[in-house]
Parts: sequence; C-alpha cells; structure tokens
Amino acid sequence: MKQIAIINGPNLNLLGTREPEVYGSQTFEEYFEVLQKRFPDCSLTYFQSNVEGELVNLIQECDSFDAIVLNAAAYSHTSIAIADAVAAISTPVIGVHISNIYQREKERHTDLLAGACKACLFGFGLEGYSLAIDFIKSELNEQ
Ligand code: DQA
Repeated sequence: MKQIAIINGPNLNLLGTREPEVYGSQTFEEYFEVLQKRFPDCSLTYFQSNVEGELVNLIQECDSFDAIVLNAAAYSHTSIAIADAVAAISTPVIGVHISNIYQREKERHTDLLAGACKACLFGFGLEGYSLAIDFIKSELNEQ
C-alpha cells in the first residue's frame, strides 16, 4: 500500500470559509474523506501547519513516505527554506495549488518550490490533490 503524505501550508486550515470564490466552500477535512474513499488502496496522512519551520520539519519527517503532495500556500512564493527541504529529500514531491496562481496577482506568479518538485498542478481546485495521487499511483506502479 502506497504511503502518501498531504502537507498543507498557511491558511489552508481555513478552507471552506476562506475566500470561497477562489478556494471553494469545502473544508479540507471534508475533502480528505473524499480522497480516502476514492483511494482505499493508499494510506493517506494529512498534515497542516501555518508555520514555515514546521513545514520544513514535516517535509524532512515524511522522507519515509512513498510521495508527498505539498501545497505550501503563500510560502511557495517566498520560502527558500521549504524549497531546500523539498530538494533535500529523495521522496517525490508533487506541488499543488488549488487556484491558478498565474491568473492571480503578480506576486503569486513565482513558485520557488516548483523546480524541486517532480510535478506541479495548479488551477484544478481541490481536485488537484486527487490528480496528484493518480499521478503518484501510476508513476510508482511503473517503478
Ligand atoms: C494557494 C495559492 C497561494 O498563492 C495562496 O497564498 C494560498 C493558496 C492555492 O492553493 O491556490 O494560500 O497555494
């Protein structure tokens, strides 16, 4: 069974009420239940932190997982420390943004983590997490 960690960054604990016109009205906890039902053949573990250093620690600690799905939220645009953590581990990391960051304000157009990620998804809404898991399953099956 594939062990997959989902790590969400700052303010994603507020999904459901936070700017629903951008991020939708579902909480991540609700969506996580959907993912668990959809992927009974995967062991999914969900982490969330609003703190940059805690996200670095989580990424390092998830080195034993088969893959990580990471939405570092606003830290994606600013954090060399999180980019370094993604580059430092051998676990493949799939970057996800719920919104299409390239259709938004200019400061969101740079993703410092993208180069260290195996692949990235943006603009698919919460379904980006599901697409990332589909990709991980097919990628890991080939190995
Ligand atoms: C986000 C996009 C970021 O720019 C923003 O700061 C977030 C969420 C997304 O999932 O679309 O918090 O990562």
